[in-house]
Amino acid sequence: MAGEVQSWVLMATARAPTNIALIKYWGKRDEALILPTNDSISVTLDPDHLSATTTVAVSPSFKQDRMWLNGKEISLSGGRYQNCLREIRKRAGDVEDEKKGVRIKKEDWEKLHLHIASYNNFPTAAGLASSAAGFACLVFTLAKLMNVKEENGDLSAIARQGSGSACRSMYGGFVKWTMGNDADGSDSIAVQLASNTHWDDLVIIVAVVSSKQKETSSTTGMRGSVETSPLLQYRAKTVVPSRVLQMEEAIKSCDFASLVGLTCADSNQFHAVCLDTSPPIFYMNDTSRRIISLVERWNRSEVSPQVAYTFDAGPNAVLIAPNRKVAGLLLQRLLFQFPPLPDNELASYILGDKSILREAGLQSMKDVEDLPPPAEIKDKAPFQKFPGDVSYFICTRLGSGPRLLTEENQALISSETGHPK
Ligand code: DP6
Repeated sequence: MAGEVQSWVLMATARAPTNIALIKYWGKRDEALILPTNDSISVTLDPDHLSATTTVAVSPSFKQDRMWLNGKEISLSGGRYQNCLREIRKRAGDVEDEKKGVRIKKEDWEKLHLHIASYNNFPTAAGLASSAAGFACLVFTLAKLMNVKEENGDLSAIARQGSGSACRSMYGGFVKWTMGNDADGSDSIAVQLASNTHWDDLVIIVAVVSSKQKETSSTTGMRGSVETSPLLQYRAKTVVPSRVLQMEEAIKSCDFASLVGLTCADSNQFHAVCLDTSPPIFYMNDTSRRIISLVERWNRSEVSPQVAYTFDAGPNAVLIAPNRKVAGLLLQRLLFQFPPLPDNELASYILGDKSILREAGLQSMKDVEDLPPPAEIKDKAPFQKFPGDVSYFICTRLGSGPRLLTEENQALISSETGHPK
């Protein structure tokens, strides 16, 4: 370690994306190691719009491991944090920073304490998968700071122990989490199926649905399903294995119609498992179901399906369009049925890649008010509108995996104080 005056702070900062499952993970065969009952497949979302940024700092002056999430100190005593920290420390390597005159030997990491600061660039309260991006980012940043070499997806196996879905955020594009067979979980890892450039026309629109209801956490929900749902067993053993193969094929050949069929069916089956749980769990609400109907009606009125929908453990819809043109048509339909409240600005109602608004021919609130009913419901008036039932939309696309941020001003911790800026 450095000489007697040990006042140095060494840091690493990184950003990791969130992901949304097309074939869902729901059920653990081992709660402690977070080993799933089936494979799952996800798409990684663009970190510009949905990601976590984390800085990890180490200094001999730190008295204990501490963490701040979105500016507020949180406890690191939970098993999931402890497992990630322990597994990374085990694999830590020698680190040298010549400029700072710091040398940390492998074995020193066990004694040194860390300060960790993390923030999400999207509202945590929106119920989007913040734990996936958060744990992926934590593990990736720790590994960079501690000079841990990634081998055979083992970093994804560590992120998995923070939150199952986090293992899939270790890669960009299309990612598969293979459930594995080993009791120690070493083969329960994420693998990239294709990068985000493989099928880069896809547009993703997230509808953040207003909800006052306190939801059952994924962890609690899936425990209930494993214990009580016969449908979960059937799904894991019989349905998912063949669905995963078909989804891999659809991704490989960029077969959008298959992707839609498989994604919608799997989301619906996941929510059917929730309903099959005792007591039943309801994640979707009336708005979620209205969005499903809107998409189903549209898909059925066309020769081939236009859009896929999928819902996680909450009411928010994630919609996938094959290209910007169809995404524009989707946005017209969504805004027709779910316009913003009268005092809302369009610019704060559509977040992320706002250029889709242009594609939809929507520049102002007046354009939204003037939207004609979509062709497929024209003759079926009266149709109802639901202003305010969607809080906002985020337009995004597929994105790449975690990456290091090297600019000093991107760090969340001050290198002088060792505390959040
Ligand atoms: C519905 O990964 O949040 O989003 O492993 O208990 O932390 P834990 O659960 P989590 O569950 C995600 C469930 C899901 C489906 C999915 O992402 O595959």
